[in-house]
Amino acid sequence: MTASVPGPAELREECATGIAAYGYFDEQEWLRDAFLAVPREHFVPRRVWWPKADDDGRYPVLDRDEQPERWLKAVYRPLTALITQVADGAVRIEDGPTASSDFTSSISCPAVVVNMLRHLAPQAGDRILEIGTGTGYSTALLCERVGAEHVVTVEIQEALAKRAEERLGALGYRPQVVCADGEQGWEPGAPYDRLLSTAGVRQVPPAWLRQVRPGGLIITPLATPMRCDVLAWLRPDGQGGGEGGLIDTVHFMKTHSQRARRPWRELGWPRWPDWSLTVTPEGSQRLHTRDR
Ligand SMILES: C[S@@+](CC[C@H](N)C(=O)[O-])C[C@H]1O[C@@H](n2cnc3c(N)ncnc32)[C@H](O)[C@@H]1O
Repeated sequence: MTASVPGPAELREECATGIAAYGYFDEQEWLRDAFLAVPREHFVPRRVWWPKADDDGRYPVLDRDEQPERWLKAVYRPLTALITQVADGAVRIEDGPTASSDFTSSISCPAVVVNMLRHLAPQAGDRILEIGTGTGYSTALLCERVGAEHVVTVEIQEALAKRAEERLGALGYRPQVVCADGEQGWEPGAPYDRLLSTAGVRQVPPAWLRQVRPGGLIITPLATPMRCDVLAWLRPDGQGGGEGGLIDTVHFMKTHSQRARRPWRELGWPRWPDWSLTVTPEGSQRLHTRDR
């Protein structure tokens, strides 16, 4: 007798259990419900690149038709993002494994998406602006929570926006999908209660702070000098500024106009010598920036 192959619903349940172990669903029953309601596999293209290179330095291709079980398992690995575009499409998936790590679109890891949504904490009926539609997967989760009529999602690449809109529509989700530069937000839909960016920034775009209502919430990956990005939260103050903090480490591709590195000082990061470490005789320690 052969063991039965787990189907998408079973793998989704398993994945949810894995995510729950991080505490990401704690006191967020809606989030677990939304995660279980959205078939992630529907948003994953037939062929994707695996995000870790083989020994030959090339990122292998996973093909749903050739390896259906492997493909589906990959879709539901809590900590695996799947790469859906390389070098803005200049590297073609038909050409097989690639040595290029210039990833320009992906479907983010399930656990990371859930963690971002947990911190975004949208309330039913909130108006949401999402930056970086990608495949449309995170958009579908937002639609589950607040209703598609309250979601605007912005994708800079027309073909991706179109494809995501089709995938969302096929499941009955009809948010507003806009093809535009999300660094400008989407003024016609403002004010928003919350903004989620699934593309990283080095500097928070001013339009975001203007278009989210005072006291609303922005969640975005922010590049740091520490070889990782951090998930940052910000509450706009209604004057074009905002205050917030840092939540967790993440890794995200950057928005188009923020791909190039910039001096960290220019972006407001303290220089290394300005970071201080204090340890008390009792052994407690504190990291802080030196007052100058
Ligand atoms: C990590 S992917 C998004 C994943 C997506 N949320 C999903 O669930 O599939 C980041 C996306 O941001 C898009 N992007 C990059 N810069 C952008 C910009 N300035 N405005 C809007 N979208 C942008 C990229 O084209 C890419 O599709």
